Amino acid sequence: MTINIIIDDKSYTAEAGENLAAFMLRHELTPFREHPVDQTKRAPHCMMGICFECLVEVDGVPSVQACLTSLKEGMSIKRNLSND
Ligand code: FES
Repeated sequence: MTINIIIDDKSYTAEAGENLAAFMLRHELTPFREHPVDQTKRAPHCMMGICFECLVEVDGVPSVQACLTSLKEGMSIKRNLSND
C-alpha cells in the first residue's frame, strides 16, 4: 500500500512498512544528523540498532532509530542538522 510521508518538510510516497533508514538512504537524504559535540555528519552504519548513527525525529519524538522504524501513513521525519 502506498502512503504519504514528510521528510524535512518535503512530501514523499513510500510503501507502508518500508524501513525508514533504507528509504532515506535510497533517496540520498544523508547525513541523518550531526554529532552534538563536534557537529560531524552522521549516517546509518549498522542498520540493526547498535550504532545509533541513524537518529532522527519522528512525529516530534527526538532520537528515534531510523533503522528500526517502519514507515506509516502521515509520518513526519526531521533530520537533526544545523543550517550551515
Ligand atoms: S544504523 Fe545503527 S542503530 Fe540504526
